[in-house]
Amino acid sequence: MASENRAVAYKEPGKVEVIDIDYPTFELKDGPGVNPANVGRKVPHGVIVKTVATNICGSDQHMVRGRTTAPPNLVLGHEITGEVVETGPDAEFIKVGDLVSVPFNIACGRCKNCKERKTGICLNVNPDRPGSAYGYVDMGGWVGGQANYVLVPYADFNCLKFPDKDQALEKIMDLTMLSDIFPTGFHGAVTAGVGVGSTVYVAGAGPVGLAAATSALLLGAAVVIVGDMNEDRLKQAASFGCETADLTKGGPAEHIEQILGEPLVDCGIDAVGFEAKGHGAGAKEAPATVLNDLMDITAAGGALGIPGLYVTGDPGGIDENAKKGSLSLSLGTGWAKSLSFTTGQCPVMKYNRGLMMAILHDRVSIGKNVNAKAIGLEDAPQGYEEFDKGAATKYVLNPNGYIKN
Ligand SMILES: NC(=O)c1ccc[n+]([C@@H]2O[C@H](COP(=O)([O-])OP(=O)(O)OC[C@H]3O[C@@H](n4cnc5c(N)ncnc54)[C@H](O)[C@@H]3O)[C@@H](O)[C@H]2O)c1
Ligand SMILES: [Zn+2]
Ligand SMILES: [Zn+2]
Repeated sequence: MASENRAVAYKEPGKVEVIDIDYPTFELKDGPGVNPANVGRKVPHGVIVKTVATNICGSDQHMVRGRTTAPPNLVLGHEITGEVVETGPDAEFIKVGDLVSVPFNIACGRCKNCKERKTGICLNVNPDRPGSAYGYVDMGGWVGGQANYVLVPYADFNCLKFPDKDQALEKIMDLTMLSDIFPTGFHGAVTAGVGVGSTVYVAGAGPVGLAAATSALLLGAAVVIVGDMNEDRLKQAASFGCETADLTKGGPAEHIEQILGEPLVDCGIDAVGFEAKGHGAGAKEAPATVLNDLMDITAAGGALGIPGLYVTGDPGGIDENAKKGSLSLSLGTGWAKSLSFTTGQCPVMKYNRGLMMAILHDRVSIGKNVNAKAIGLEDAPQGYEEFDKGAATKYVLNPNGYIKN
């Protein structure tokens, strides 16, 4: 059943292109970024999904900016929602016609970590290291989903089926955030210890920061302060009830003190990662800034949720240490305050069903809060460019015309 399959591929730093790729089969083929040990791997437990919505992420931008070792022609896309069009012989419960959200982590459902719901560090899907994702460097080589069609392995385990297709299509601009940023932001908030009455500082007002802020409010936080140096993104955070900290005008501690009367919050969330900038007008990249800020402004006994991505190799790092992913942390500050840290990929499956229910029953408007905007697959290069310039928009690709708006 060969169908045309167009896909967004990384070409070189600063450039993506929409190219033709093969229609998926139930076997992993060799290709850009595919681990040799995964070539020829059979995927009878998989399904082929026709994409309904597939989003551009800040994580993709690290690759596209040339800040990773991603090879040219790597097909991008790990935020996938789609309609199942083919099932492998061992897919038992997911059926053709189902509309599903696909967690960006690929997880086998059989290993020790999956059994403990740590699906961000599945042991069986990536020969290089624990943890895997679609369309990502060093993640085993599973082909990305910014395409018309994509293969989803271990489908019965990975797919979250929406209960009603028509209702799901109506709320698709919210539900599309379940594949990554909404659970990721929520995990950031949960692991930072957010609960009723908490005061929270979220570093970064990109889509993940806005999703973390949305999650903190959903969890009952009293005050959520979002810090960034991007004015439009801060306005977006203010639009749904957050306080803001404009970091072109001083560090987070000063802003927090003005808002709360003391330079401390209960919970700190890093939604920035290793490409962090320092504070003040025209500040340059300083990769440890956010982690040091959070240790500084989180009250003793508090916790840091760190969804922001840190790498083990960064060709564009500011110095030799940063190139190896080694940062200059004031860990003594964190130690003295008994702070706890949670890093790593978000285990999407822990949260996606509950957050789906919150969306379907109108408890939360994640699509509006992150300013989701649908664009055509062929318009992806422009979407990447605008997102890279700091647009206060979460770009949702609409490869097969399901999204009508
Ligand atoms: N852990 C996970 O599972 C997971 C999942 C998705 C994304 N991520 C990561 O989350 C991070 C955010 O993703 P995104 O899509 O929102 O990215 P983004 O690049 O759109 O947003 C990052 C924002 O941080 C701001 N920023 C830079 N330095 C800052 C500082 N010192 N203080 C406050 N803000 C600062 C930037 O201006 C930008 O608006 C990325 O590193 C991404 O890779 C992790
Ligand atoms: Zn993502
Ligand atoms: Zn596993």
